[in-house]
Amino acid sequence: MKDKKIIVGITGGIAAYKAAELVRLLVKAGAQVRVAMTANAVRFVTPLTFEALSGHRVIRDMWGQEETTIDHITWGQESDLIIIAPATANIIAKMAHGIADDFLSTMVVAATAKILVCPSMNDRMLINPAVQNNLRILNERNFAVMVPGEGQLACRSEGPGRLPEPQEIVEHAWTLLSPQDLSGQKVLITAGPTIEPIDPVRYISNRSSGRMGFALAKAARRRGASVTLVSGPVSLMPPNGVTFIPVKTADEMKNAVMENRSGCNIVIKAAAVSDYRPKDRAQQKIKKGPDSLTLDLLKNPDILSELGDTKKQSPCVLVGFAAETEDLLANAEAKLKAKNLDMIVANDVSRNDAGFETDTNIVKMIFPDGHVEDSTLMTKDEVADLILDRIKSLK
Ligand code: CTP
Repeated sequence: MKDKKIIVGITGGIAAYKAAELVRLLVKAGAQVRVAMTANAVRFVTPLTFEALSGHRVIRDMWGQEETTIDHITWGQESDLIIIAPATANIIAKMAHGIADDFLSTMVVAATAKILVCPSMNDRMLINPAVQNNLRILNERNFAVMVPGEGQLACRSEGPGRLPEPQEIVEHAWTLLSPQDLSGQKVLITAGPTIEPIDPVRYISNRSSGRMGFALAKAARRRGASVTLVSGPVSLMPPNGVTFIPVKTADEMKNAVMENRSGCNIVIKAAAVSDYRPKDRAQQKIKKGPDSLTLDLLKNPDILSELGDTKKQSPCVLVGFAAETEDLLANAEAKLKAKNLDMIVANDVSRNDAGFETDTNIVKMIFPDGHVEDSTLMTKDEVADLILDRIKSLK
């Protein structure tokens, strides 16, 4: 969210306290955040909290606190996004009917920025026909309106009306701020390692953390794609809005990929699949015995090769990864050809700042015409967007 200007408008509901975490997450993501609070919001949380988190003065009313006399006009026109969280029944009604009687509502009327509305209120208030009608008006006018969560509410009743979690609001904001250039595209991504059981307590695996594949899934989703993510065991939360299929072994990954490849425009195999599995899986824990022990291994199916061999039947842009510790370019080029790929992303997994278990990566993108493009060292989120840009140009 670097260089993005976001305004968080906080109104007077108990969930105002969650807006503190929202502001923190937006600032962490690199956005420049300004906060406007209504008079009632200030009764729940002090502006000081938001001033400390955003690094800027909070604006509360039209009279005397604005930095210039026309902030209520310029704020909503110079920002990229306005997030109203929590949005009470009152602000929803005001926005639906163009009422401008304080700083926040006046700014909304004058705004040209996109507006994300995050309703939060008592469940009876939410289902009130007047509130529902006002939400319908906002939806029809191209406001982005999030669906409130369900569960225990602060008023001790159970039902819909909870403010969506701050992380979900941030994810929605990302989507609104991203180009929707993959809209209508179906994307299948694999991530993480596979694990191949030896006995009930041991397995063969590798050091893949799944971060690159998850970053690709998140970026594709933000750019409007419909994403299926097949992942081996990792300690990451599946990105919001992605169909997530957890698997363990290479065989399970192969089945999940083959069942879901149909109709996909883009298939990206970022997973580090175990090449071999134990020939026999012991039913009980193998006991300590002689000084040396030999494991008999069988070759696993090469999922990417099978996708490449059958590309004519299921046409798609097919992208592989090459994890190498030596001869990066030559090894990756050989895999690109052998697996009939449209692009391969090569990374040197022996580096400390790239490959497995890191937040950064540096890659070579290699194409069938011999063209090679080097990335700089970037975060995996940035590498993901770069890879998607190149895939888009192949389509
Ligand atoms: N791959 C796969 N199925 C396998 C092995 C690899 O689909 N059984 C895919 C990976 O997801 C990756 C690409 O093939 O996109 C290359 O994987 P990599 O582990 O770098 O290479 P391998 O083909 O396994 O060859 P080697 O281990 O000899 O380097």
